[in-house]
Amino acid sequence: MARITVIGGGYVGLVTSACFAGLGHQARCLESDAAKVDSLRSGAMPIQEPGLAEMWARHSESGNLSITADPAEALSLTSFIYIAVGTPESPDGSADLSYLREAVHTAQHYSDLSRIVCIKSTVPPGTCAGLQSDLNKDARPEDRWTVVSNPEFLSQGRAVQDFMNPDRIVVGSSDAGISQMVAGLYFPLDAPIVSVDSAAAETVKYASNSFLALKISFINEISRLCEHTGTDIGQVATGVGLDSRIGPRFLEAGIGWGGSCFPKDTAALEHFMRSAGLESQVVSAARAVNRGQVEHIADQLVRMVGAGFGKEIAMLGLTFKDGTDDLRGSQVLPLINRLSADGFSIRVFDPSRPVLRNESLPPVTVCDSPQEALFGASGAVLATAWPELVSLDYASARHLMREPVLIDARRALDPGKLKALGYRYARPGDGRTAPHLAQRPELTGTLSAA
Ligand code: UGA
Repeated sequence: MARITVIGGGYVGLVTSACFAGLGHQARCLESDAAKVDSLRSGAMPIQEPGLAEMWARHSESGNLSITADPAEALSLTSFIYIAVGTPESPDGSADLSYLREAVHTAQHYSDLSRIVCIKSTVPPGTCAGLQSDLNKDARPEDRWTVVSNPEFLSQGRAVQDFMNPDRIVVGSSDAGISQMVAGLYFPLDAPIVSVDSAAAETVKYASNSFLALKISFINEISRLCEHTGTDIGQVATGVGLDSRIGPRFLEAGIGWGGSCFPKDTAALEHFMRSAGLESQVVSAARAVNRGQVEHIADQLVRMVGAGFGKEIAMLGLTFKDGTDDLRGSQVLPLINRLSADGFSIRVFDPSRPVLRNESLPPVTVCDSPQEALFGASGAVLATAWPELVSLDYASARHLMREPVLIDARRALDPGKLKALGYRYARPGDGRTAPHLAQRPELTGTLSAA
């Protein structure tokens, strides 16, 4: 059993604290937002994450888990300091490391025992080595710090499960003894330990997220080919994904990828490589395809609905995926911007009722139900695959709409059923459900003629 302090009570910090407590450690979370600390202490979990609230309650009660806004309390007599603060995207695309530096400074100032800092935050290669040498600048030999990269691979909505059943645990440090100690914190989880230097560990994180993003962009690019040839990307993805060298996951075509990680991490990698004088052609292409996917879906809708002026579109879903109230990087936001620029009025419903703050959206009507959003609409987009939107009563919904045009941007519905209900239905990657595409003369040729 180790004493672990996690700096940062965001989604990674809370999950990491609770799961370390779950593994039998004494975990303390340091969060500067006193209101958040109070609400967690009173049993309210500020994020939607299956299993986390229960886990938090259980381990707080057993005394293995606590949260505080007081750095001295959090960092006294601790053995490992984890940093799990945000590294958001700067205006130039680079990772903003200011919260990280602040956290390291706090660790340096308040830690009376531990000299081991483990970075969970996603940081550019070389960051841990740089922090370590900064920390050790004036340190006495017995006070020397080690900064370890121990990246997280937690997907929102299944973060507890991902922590407890990892595909691998990556530990980056040139100090083999400390690497072993950090890897030991994950005992008894059954996962390969990838023990590497810190720059390699930092790169693993960027490469993993970027590879997943490009896998999705790739299938979205092929999905446009399927529309052209009159076939369906679902069938193609099944055939491709069964190659064990490729694998079936992250081959779901749709609206493209979003979230708080893929967009910022691919931007940071692009920026980092450019600053190093290197090209990031593949990552940049993945980003470009992702931007293009929004335009592609908007074009498809405009073709089906006709010019926008005065027409209303129901946007069913706003978050970057279902199961979260997170709007960061959601592809639905640029889709709304584009449709609004085309003259459509947008009526939005999202089951998580996300709070609209600085999302740089045009004025939209936020509705209390999908029915309200659909009422009088000339078209609808299923933009996030929330179960309640997928299982909506589309038979009666059709009668609320001015025109029964539906784009299933998540490919979550049954095309046959929707068509039988009288919808003019299309979904990305399905050339069989997009007759309007075949009407375009340049799209009727065969592949070889194209
Ligand atoms: C992602 C990674 O999956 C985690 O491993 C990583 O730790 C995390 O980022 C992070 O860096 O913190 P997350 O952003 O929660 O996790 O979301 P994902 O489930 O990976 O989905 C990302 C986006 O891709 C979503 O918009 C999702 O709808 C989209 N997606 C996913 C597809 O369009 N198609 C797919 O086949 C899979």
